[in-house]
Amino acid sequence: MPSLSNSDELIFFVNGRKVIEKNADPEVNLLFYLRKILHLTGTKYGCGSGGCGACTVMVSRYDPKTKKIHHYPVTACLVPICSLYGAAVTTVEGVGSIKTRIHPVQERLAKCHGTQCGFCSPGMMMSIYTLLRNHPEPTPEQITEALGGNLCRCTGYRPIVESGKTFCAASTVCQMKGSGKCCMDKEEKSFTSGQEKMCTKLYNEDEFQPFDPTQEPIFPPELIRMAEDPNKRRLTFRGKRTTWITPVNLNDLLELKTRFPEAPIIMGNTAVGPSIKFRDEFHPVFISPLGLQELYFVNSTDDGVTIGAGYSLAQLNDALHFIVSEQPKEKTKTYHALLKHLRTLAGAQIRNMATLGGHVVSRPNYSDLNPILAAGNATINLISKEGKRQIPLDGRFLEKSPEANLKSEETVLSVYIPHSTQWHFVSGLRIAQRQENAFAIVNAGMSVKFEDGTDTIKELQMFYGSVGPTVVSASKTCQQLIGRQWNDQMLSDACRLVLDEIYIPPDAEGGMVEYRRTLIISLLFKFYLKVRRGLNKMDSHKFPDIPEKFVSALEDFPIETPQGIQMFQCVDPYQPLQDPVGHPVMHQSAIKHTTGEAVFVDDMPPISQELFLAVVTSTRAHAKIILIDTSAALALPGVVDVITAEDVPGENNYQGEIFYAQNEVICVGQIVCTVAADTYAHAKEAAKKVKIVYEDLEPRIITIEQALEHNSFLSAEKKIEQGDVEQAFKNVDQIIEGKVHVEGQEHFYMETQTILAIPQEEDKEMVLHVGTQFQTHVQEYVAAALNIPRNRVACHAKRAGGAFGGKVSKPALLGAVSAVAANKTGRPIRFILERGDDMLITAGRHPLLGKYKIGFMNNGVIKAADIEYYINGGCTPDESELVMEFMVLRSENAYYIPNFRCRGRPCKTNLPSNTAFRGFGFPQAIVVGEAYITAVASQCNLTPEQVKEINMYKRTSRTAHKQTFNPEPLRRCWEECLEKSSFSARKLAAEEFNKKNRWKKRGLAVVPMKFTVGMPTTFYNQAAALVHIYLDGSVLVSHGGCELGQGLHTKMIQVASRELNIPESYIHLSETNTTTVPNATFTAGSMGADIHGKAVQNACQILKARLQPVIGKNPKGKWEEWISEAYEESISLSTTGYFKGYQTNMDWKKGEGDAFPYFVYGASCSEVEVDCLTGAHKLLRTDIFMDAAFSINPAVDIGQIEGAFVQGMGFYTTEELKYSPEGVLYSRGPDDYKIPTVTEIPEEFNVTLVRSGNPIAIYSSKGLGEAGMFLGSSVLFAIYDAVAAARRERGLTKTFTLSSPATPELIRMTCVDQFTDMIPRDDPSTFTPWSIHVS
Ligand SMILES: Cc1cc2nc3c(=O)[nH]c(=O)nc-3n(C[C@H](O)[C@H](O)[C@H](O)COP(=O)(O)OP(=O)(O)OC[C@H]3O[C@@H](n4cnc5c(N)ncnc54)[C@H](O)[C@@H]3O)c2cc1C
Ligand code: FES
Ligand code: FES
Repeated sequence: MPSLSNSDELIFFVNGRKVIEKNADPEVNLLFYLRKILHLTGTKYGCGSGGCGACTVMVSRYDPKTKKIHHYPVTACLVPICSLYGAAVTTVEGVGSIKTRIHPVQERLAKCHGTQCGFCSPGMMMSIYTLLRNHPEPTPEQITEALGGNLCRCTGYRPIVESGKTFCAASTVCQMKGSGKCCMDKEEKSFTSGQEKMCTKLYNEDEFQPFDPTQEPIFPPELIRMAEDPNKRRLTFRGKRTTWITPVNLNDLLELKTRFPEAPIIMGNTAVGPSIKFRDEFHPVFISPLGLQELYFVNSTDDGVTIGAGYSLAQLNDALHFIVSEQPKEKTKTYHALLKHLRTLAGAQIRNMATLGGHVVSRPNYSDLNPILAAGNATINLISKEGKRQIPLDGRFLEKSPEANLKSEETVLSVYIPHSTQWHFVSGLRIAQRQENAFAIVNAGMSVKFEDGTDTIKELQMFYGSVGPTVVSASKTCQQLIGRQWNDQMLSDACRLVLDEIYIPPDAEGGMVEYRRTLIISLLFKFYLKVRRGLNKMDSHKFPDIPEKFVSALEDFPIETPQGIQMFQCVDPYQPLQDPVGHPVMHQSAIKHTTGEAVFVDDMPPISQELFLAVVTSTRAHAKIILIDTSAALALPGVVDVITAEDVPGENNYQGEIFYAQNEVICVGQIVCTVAADTYAHAKEAAKKVKIVYEDLEPRIITIEQALEHNSFLSAEKKIEQGDVEQAFKNVDQIIEGKVHVEGQEHFYMETQTILAIPQEEDKEMVLHVGTQFQTHVQEYVAAALNIPRNRVACHAKRAGGAFGGKVSKPALLGAVSAVAANKTGRPIRFILERGDDMLITAGRHPLLGKYKIGFMNNGVIKAADIEYYINGGCTPDESELVMEFMVLRSENAYYIPNFRCRGRPCKTNLPSNTAFRGFGFPQAIVVGEAYITAVASQCNLTPEQVKEINMYKRTSRTAHKQTFNPEPLRRCWEECLEKSSFSARKLAAEEFNKKNRWKKRGLAVVPMKFTVGMPTTFYNQAAALVHIYLDGSVLVSHGGCELGQGLHTKMIQVASRELNIPESYIHLSETNTTTVPNATFTAGSMGADIHGKAVQNACQILKARLQPVIGKNPKGKWEEWISEAYEESISLSTTGYFKGYQTNMDWKKGEGDAFPYFVYGASCSEVEVDCLTGAHKLLRTDIFMDAAFSINPAVDIGQIEGAFVQGMGFYTTEELKYSPEGVLYSRGPDDYKIPTVTEIPEEFNVTLVRSGNPIAIYSSKGLGEAGMFLGSSVLFAIYDAVAAARRERGLTKTFTLSSPATPELIRMTCVDQFTDMIPRDDPSTFTPWSIHVS
């Protein structure tokens, strides 16, 4: 490499403080720098790829030209620190803190209940804060837009949006649909439902501090001086392996480009950054002209507009909005098309980082802008030392044809986009797994020019993205259509031609081949209709309009700001003021969440001598390990050791779970060894150098079908049966049989699995800090792996950043893996899984194959059901057997079927072991039930709701496993749901809509639910607590439950407050650990608050009884006085509390028992609109009625219901795991696994807590952590309803099965029509597909 000057100092500001970095390394990103160098741990790591928003911070820069300060959000994980010279960074710590003053954004996000686990909260807060810095009174739409790049896995977004909306000007706030009321009008409303008085106010806005935008910190004057310095010079930062150069002006840039032609130009780093991180690209030199004035301009002329290459996509958006507002409509068609895609391209952070030049040059095959720019005849202005030239941004450029490319020494100066003209139409079309912040599955830019005054094609251009390795041009098709009339015959020929020209091979990367082929012509059809409509608008006499029924096909779904009402029981007016039970109390850690002061494991400061662990995982599904060669890894700098199975002093294969693979591997992703090094970067680099030689073994079982072929199971069959099923089948009018496939789900907790294992000096003690739901299990596995008694292992769990079942068993395995490393090296081990490793190693919800045979009468009464379940358990037992037991026990759901049999078995496959997941089998299993109910309805010409009503439990009954229950709350939820959602009227309206619209269909569905809480074994339901009262009157509560975001600790404080009759502020709850409360059961099964509440209550009651004599003597005394008096009387002020557990049992031999302490009931109604041409859907409205009995904390419970519903909705619609036929998981991050964002949630989202009784539980409450998950299936069945309408219109009346998830692919391909008929199909026996389903 040519020699360069020595390194410059990197100067920037963080939270108002100057940072001078003398050794700035271009390979270091801002997130790492903040967390590990500056120890500002409020900014979180969630994915490292720009896709989750957990790391959002605000960057501010001064523009010397305009003399303005520009604030924008960025994802710190993609910002190289070297790009920050002269910038001011604001992190969550700089916005506000509990120690100084919290900011109104932090306060309102917390008080509106916008945090649960709190891991996404700093990022959410920063997105809203940055918006407010630019728009102190934003519109609701701006709030939703600002949050589009931030994922939250807990809340369901509604309360987050609501907190943002409190900053909106009153006049812009919504009107509740039809009611004339504003959803921001949070004055206490009370409604009467039956005998109950209902409240709607979950927070009190009078408590909010006013927001005064003038009080924000000023931009550092030093940075203004630096920006205006006339003597600026080139900057060079030399790292260990790479050099970063910031040219001082354009000439300098050209000079550098000549000198280092291969060096990438780093602008937003949103293309280069991920390539370096995930594709191992290496560049010795980076040139970064970020901020170079010559690249930032807009130049508008009569013919078009030239936009500087440095403009971010957000600035491009603003510039185009301005031009559109200035120019006549006919000139702005290209700009409108670009604006439409700019709204949904990535999230606000990426749009503010990514630049026009970077986008055009990087030419991703999924590019949303390049196809439109090409269709709009844009050109690229290039500059080099040789001079300037222009190249067309056309098909050859996009297809990366070498002669159409820029030369390596050239830089893009700007992009010229001509105005459109009168007889010229330009459109952008796209479909993605989710509406916003998702790469297109297929997109297109199309344009047509007509001979003036005619519909004769003069010029036609069609560019498609995501149909091959580059954006492709359908140039031959376009050429052949020139001179043709714009009519149906032309369309039909165009479809045929374009399918010939753009061929997606059957085994193409990305899969979805038939769907993508269909989209090629479906999008073309949309364009055809748009143009026809446009022609008609220009001359309605000459050009007939499209049929009215087709009009709705033209528009994409709008993005609306969600709104809704939450209703819950009001607190008894006679309840003492101090008693917090029943009140919507804010999460105990909420303010800490929003200020970033809540400490998660990786936020703990470095421990002396600590090492980082990186994993080496198996690349084969089933193979013998021939050799593990660690020599190259051990030779690398910083590497301390490589740990393998040989290093496990105790058991390596414990209860069937294997810590380090030994001799053979049984899935892709199994941990073979780990590397311990002084930094994570070193550990990771070394992990890549470990060489493993495998020899494949047979069989390799990936799918359930393959497991059934090989008779490969993890445990014996579980069965329940009532009546005489075989006999009943003989006496029914009809019998149907079917299969339902339900794919798996990734937990996608925002905090990946994290463990800090610290070996102690004495007695082989090991201390672990871990984000878990089951600290006892971690303790057990660590003790087994190290061959030490459990009393030497202390496991601390302060909080987890989401868990959802994924942190029940897996932390034990990972804890053992890290403890073995800590034991071997004798040093603390920090083991933080990267998102990709987490998704690969820890697996998730079990995919299910459900088979059914149903016997029913023509009036819809179901007489007999024979159900079989098979789940894909993966390679080890984990919890699969228990999951299957739960599935079988809950299989009947809300319906009484007199002759009912359900059998199930978990399959053993060579996939990573699937595990617990919210709902524990219920969300998969019950879809089968709803599917056969829907099928019966279709056979009987009834609606599914009628068949549900007919077969639903109506009076006190016994379940199929012979447990007595009273379904009265189920009936109430069902009936209220139908009534309050105006189901019948809306169903009629949807039918009307469907008659009038050919390509968009609406559907509604209501699903009832009978869910179970707790475990069928009493000892699993036991719990303990430890309560200390200190001499100042303060109280410390400990219990065995883990805080995962579900508000468990908050509820426990409410319980202790009521029982001890003291304010909540007296009570503290610090963490969960194995040293204070031993042998605690898992925090799962919706029973955390139930059982720990009883234990805390018991402890408090014991203490209260001990205090009674003292209180009796001085009844008017204060709490503090009683405590000191008690101490002086030698009364113990500390006790344990205990709950033996609910009495439950299940006899599997007989198939009967009182398996569950009680049931939770609910119903939900959802309405969707489906775009039959693309498969996209929009969730218009959801109404949930959930039997909460008595809610201890309505804010927490509603939060759980909404969060679970949205997680369920994701499971049933957008979330799709992709596996190769060899068992390799492709979907390993937010780029290719799509959990819902703020745009997916219902436009109108109403939740009502229905009051009932539950005397066996604490304060007659119910556990609501999981129940909402299944209610998300109302979206799946509403989609089914809409798709059925589309199929009926085509004359397809036969029953069909919609499997889960109902992705755009599945929806589109089920809405069969002339386009799906037209595409080429391949014989499945002739190719190996890119991905397979494993259910
Ligand atoms: C999370 C995420 C989501 C995304 N979602 C979408 C999406 O939905 N739709 C979509 O279309 N795109 C999406 N993208 C891609 C994004 O649009 C591109 O990565 C971005 O536009 C690239 O711009 P950049 O400034 O960051 O480029 P950089 O990464 O800085 O550079 C990219 C390349 O361009 C070259 N380059 C940059 N500027 C110039 C110049 N002036 N002259 C010559 N060469 C130059 C560089 O040498 C480099 O090779 C997403 C990206 C991320 C990270
Ligand atoms: S960690 Fe940066 S976006 Fe996810
Ligand atoms: S609160 Fe948003 S991820 Fe947990």
